[in-house]
Formats: sequence, C-alpha cells, structure tokens
Amino acid sequence: MKELSKKIDSCIDKIQDFPKAGIHYKDITPIFLNPDLCTKIIKSFAEFSKGKIDVVCGIESRGFLFGTQIAKELNIPFVLIRKAGKLPPPVISQEYELEYGSAEIEIKKNHIKPNQRVLIHDDILATGGTAAACAQLVENCGAKASQFSFLISLDSLDGKKKLEKYTKEIQILLEYK
Ligand code: PRP
Ligand code: MG
Repeated sequence: MKELSKKIDSCIDKIQDFPKAGIHYKDITPIFLNPDLCTKIIKSFAEFSKGKIDVVCGIESRGFLFGTQIAKELNIPFVLIRKAGKLPPPVISQEYELEYGSAEIEIKKNHIKPNQRVLIHDDILATGGTAAACAQLVENCGAKASQFSFLISLDSLDGKKKLEKYTKEIQILLEYK
C-alpha cells in the first residue's frame, strides 16, 4: 500500500453494523482533524486532474468536502450536483436506480458548458450508481465526463464497472477489497 493510502486508512474509523446490521461503515470524518493529511490528499487529486479538466463537479454531500478544494487548487470552477429539490430552478435532473426504488440528482442549468471536460468527484465509490448518474447528467449538458476521483472505493461492489463506459480515467486513493 502506498504511503498516502496507509495514512488515509489509519484515519478512517471502521464501525461494524452501522447504519444497519451487516454493514461495515467507513467513517472518513477523522481525516478532517488532520490538516497536513488533507493537504496531501488535495495535492494528489489535483495532480491527477491538472490540465485534463475544465470544471469539477462534486456530489452532495461528502463530495463537496474535497471537491471544492480540488477546484480551488486547480483554479477552475466548482459545480454542485445535489439531491433533488435542493437547488432552485432552472435545473437539469437525472433519475437512477437504487437497490430498492430510485433516486434523483440535479445540477443548475448552464453551470456546465457544452464540451467542457468534467471531473466528477466523491468521497466513496460503492455500487457506482450515484457517480454514473452524475456522468450521465454531465453528458446530458453536452459536456464530457472526462475523469472520476474518489477518496476510497469498496471494490466488492464493483462500482468501477459502471463508470468505465464514460472514461477509464478513475483515481481512487484507497481501495478496500
Ligand atoms: C454515499 C457516498 C457516495 C454514495 C456512493 O453518499 O458518499 O456519494 O453514497 O454510493 P453508490 O456508489 O452506491 O452510489 P450518501 O448518499 O450516503 O450521502 P452523503 O454523501 O450526503 O452522506
Ligand atoms: Mg455521498
């Protein structure tokens, strides 16, 4: 494991049976108690995307934490992708399937311009359903989902597979098997 991955792992609390039985929850919040580690994480994300994207899209809510800072580091715009009903109109919406039922995300109309190269950023890649829906939303705006980045992934859920039809440029700082 790389040095940065090890440091991130050491700052993630693992909680058995939260929020329900059988789930082994990964709590990323202790990372934010360590500003030096946050700086290293932001630099690593920014290095991956430098020169390759025009805008960062962060996924509500934990994708906002590093998403805004990646955009700041690269001096490019940050656009929020939010759960339905949170952004005032005009918005563009995208529905997607969950294990049970469906969900919807939204983006402000015209905040992403046609042909822009977009980084979609979030904290965790699990099933990939949310990030794939964001990529679809971005492409519906006429832009290109050029890259994805995540702090961690839960590889047993195979999320990467859903994203590879958009781009193979996927950065994950720490992969849990
Ligand atoms: C979690 C996580 C990702 C998403 C990953 O967000 O932060 O956004 O689920 O799941 P998927 O790959 O299976 O789609 P959550 O909806 O719990 O909300 P939060 O970020 O607002 O805490
Ligand atoms: Mg989330």
